[in-house]
Amino acid sequence: MGVTTRSTLDGINWSAVNRATRRQVRNREVYCPPISLFRWWARRPHALTRALLDASNLEPEDLVSDPFSGGGTVTLESAAKGHRVYAQDLNPWAVWGLRTALDGVSPTLLRAGIDSFWQKLRNSTSRYYATNCPTHGNGEILHTFWVRECTCPHCAQALYLYPYSLITLAGRKRNEKIAFYGCSACGRVTQRGTARRVACEDCGHELAGMREPLLVQKRVWCPHCSQEVSYRDAWSRKPKWKPVLVQRFCSYRDKQIVHFDEPTPTEVARALTCVNTPAPLLEKIPMGRETAVLRRGGFRKWSDLYPSRQLKVLLKGVKLANDPELDRHVRSRIQLAIAGAGEMAGHLCRWDRFHPKAFEALANHRFAVLGLAVETNLVAERGRGTLKLRLRNSLSAANWAQTHISEPNSRARQRVAPVEEPGGKARQCTIVAGTSSKQRIPSNSVRLVITDPPYYDAVQYGELSGLFIAWARAVTGRRRPWTVDLRFEAVPNETRKAGAKHYESLLRSIFKETARTMRDDGKLLLTYHGMDFRGWAALGRALHWAGLRVEALAVAHSENEKDHPKRNRNAFSKDLVIECGKNTSAYRAPVVVNASRRPEQRELLAAGVTIANHSGKEYAEMVQKFQQLTKRMRRRRIRVPTLF
Ligand SMILES: C[S@@+](CC[C@H](N)C(=O)[O-])C[C@H]1O[C@@H](n2cnc3c(N)ncnc32)[C@H](O)[C@@H]1O
Ligand SMILES: [Zn+2]
Ligand SMILES: [Zn+2]
Ligand SMILES: [Zn+2]
Repeated sequence: MGVTTRSTLDGINWSAVNRATRRQVRNREVYCPPISLFRWWARRPHALTRALLDASNLEPEDLVSDPFSGGGTVTLESAAKGHRVYAQDLNPWAVWGLRTALDGVSPTLLRAGIDSFWQKLRNSTSRYYATNCPTHGNGEILHTFWVRECTCPHCAQALYLYPYSLITLAGRKRNEKIAFYGCSACGRVTQRGTARRVACEDCGHELAGMREPLLVQKRVWCPHCSQEVSYRDAWSRKPKWKPVLVQRFCSYRDKQIVHFDEPTPTEVARALTCVNTPAPLLEKIPMGRETAVLRRGGFRKWSDLYPSRQLKVLLKGVKLANDPELDRHVRSRIQLAIAGAGEMAGHLCRWDRFHPKAFEALANHRFAVLGLAVETNLVAERGRGTLKLRLRNSLSAANWAQTHISEPNSRARQRVAPVEEPGGKARQCTIVAGTSSKQRIPSNSVRLVITDPPYYDAVQYGELSGLFIAWARAVTGRRRPWTVDLRFEAVPNETRKAGAKHYESLLRSIFKETARTMRDDGKLLLTYHGMDFRGWAALGRALHWAGLRVEALAVAHSENEKDHPKRNRNAFSKDLVIECGKNTSAYRAPVVVNASRRPEQRELLAAGVTIANHSGKEYAEMVQKFQQLTKRMRRRRIRVPTLF
C-alpha cells in the first residue's frame, strides 16, 4: 500500500480495549461518577475513548474537540488526561450537565451546601410522606402506586387499567410467596399467596394469573360488560388516577421494615394534595415522534406527568435551592439534581413486579404510557432516584473531578494556553451549546477530534430531553438559555419532516466547520453504527464534502446491546471507528485494522469501506458497492432503502 505513517487505530490493542469496555459497561458510574450527574442516551465507552486518546500521542497542550459532546465521555476523558478540550452540543441539557461535571467546585463546599439544603428540604417536606402505619405506627411512604381509571362507554362503569393483575411481589426474597393483585373491575388491591388463584377480596372478580397480560397492545376489555373499550376512551382522555397501594418504611421494635399495604384514608387524602404549578411545567408537551406517545395517552402538559404531591416536593426544592447564600456552583448542582429528578415522574414510572423497584421514566429511551404507575418519594432517605441519591452522586462526581482533573493536571493547566472564549475568558475546558455548524475555535487549532454524530436510527435526544428542559426552566427561572431549535438536530424525525437529506446537510456543515478547526496534521476519529444505509451514505458524503479522507477503519465493542434494550433486537453491539485526516494528498485505500470473519464486524467494515471509497458518488452507486461487498452475507443488519 506504500503507507509510511501508521494510522492511529493501528496502534491500539483492540482485544484489551474491548475487554475493558465490557467491564466498564456494567458499572459506568463507578468508573466515571460524573456521568450520573445527568441522564443522557447512547454514551460512548470510556475505555475506547481513552485508548483513542492514548494512541494519538498528544502533547499536553494539544487541543481535543468533540462537536457532538452529549454525555461527555470524550470531554471527561480528555480533561482527565490533562488536555485542553473544546466540546459542543446542540442540547442545553447535555451542556449544563457537562459544564457541571467540570465546574471545579470544592467538594467541601458542596458537601456543606448539600447538607444544609437537604436538612431544610426534609424539614419542610417530610410531612407530605409521613404516615401512621396501622401495624407499626410512625412511618414514611416510599412509593405510591397509581392505577389509571376510565369509564366504559358501553355500560358506564369505572374500570382500572392494570397491565397485569399482579402489581408486585411483597419482597425480593428468592421464593417470595406473598403478592399484591389489583382488580380491574373495582380497582382494589388483594394480598394473596403466589400459588393460589385469586379473586378480588372486594368484588369477587376473578383476577388473572401473575404472568397473564391484561392489556395486549393496549387493548382494553371491560370487566363488567366484556365489550372492548376503544383506545380513545381508554387512553386518550385526560388521565384519572387512583392511589391503590403504598410501600411504607416503618420502624418497629428497633427494626426497620419496608412493606406494602393498601393506603389508609389519610394516605389517600395526602396523595391527592393540591399544588400551584409553575409556568414552564404548564407548557404543552410538543408534538413529536416520541412525545406523540404522551399526547395520545392523554397527557397535555408536562405537569400532567406528576402526582401533585411530587410536584409540591420538587417545587419546594426549587425554592430552597434558589438561595443567594449558596455558592453559585453549589446552587447550580442542586438545581441540576432537582431537574434530573423530573425523570421520576410518578405517572410515568414503571415498577418491576418481580424484583420490586421503580424505573425512571425514560429507561428505554422512550416515553411509555402506563396503566399502573409509581410515585417515588423523592425526599426519602433511601431508595432509587431520590434527591438524596442524586445529591450524593453529585458529591462523588465532585470528588472524582478533584482527584482526576484539577490537582494532577494543575501543572499542565498552567503550561497550557487555554481556549479563548468570547469575552476573553480562558478555560482548560470550553463547553458550548448550539449547533456545531459554527464552533468558537480558531482555524487550524485542533489536534484531535473524537466524536460520534447521532446515528441515523438514533435516539430522539431533543424530544426526550424536553422533560428535563421544562424543569431546567422551572428551577432556574430562566427561559432563554434553554431554548433549543430542534430543526438543527442532526437526527431524522418524521414529525419535523427531517429525513436523509436534512441529516446529510447538517452533517456536511458540521464536518466542514470541524475540518476548518483542525490542524493540517490533525485527525478525526469518529465512531458510528446504524441500521439504515442512508445514514452511512450521508455520513460518508458529508466527510467527503468536508475534505476529510477516511484513512483507517476498526471495529470496537460498544454498549448498545445494553443501551437499546427493547428497541431493536437486531441492533449492532459494535461500533465502527473511522479515522480521517485532512485531504491534502492523493487518494489511498483505507487501512482495515482489525478485519474479522464475524458477520457483524464484516458488515460494519463493508459499510466503512464503501464510504471510504465511494462517498463522492451518488447514493444509488454507493448502495450498489455496499451490496457487492456484502452479497455473501446471509443476514444483513443494515437496511438498504433504494431511495435517498
Ligand atoms: C451519539 S450522541 C454523542 C454522545 C457522546 N459522545 C457521549 O459519549 O455521551 C450525539 C449528540 O449529537 C448532538 N447533536 C445533534 N445535532 C447536533 C448539532 N447540530 N450540533 C451539535 N450537536 C448536535 C445530540 O444532542 C447528541 O448529544
Ligand atoms: Zn408498617
Ligand atoms: Zn374487585
Ligand atoms: Zn362495560
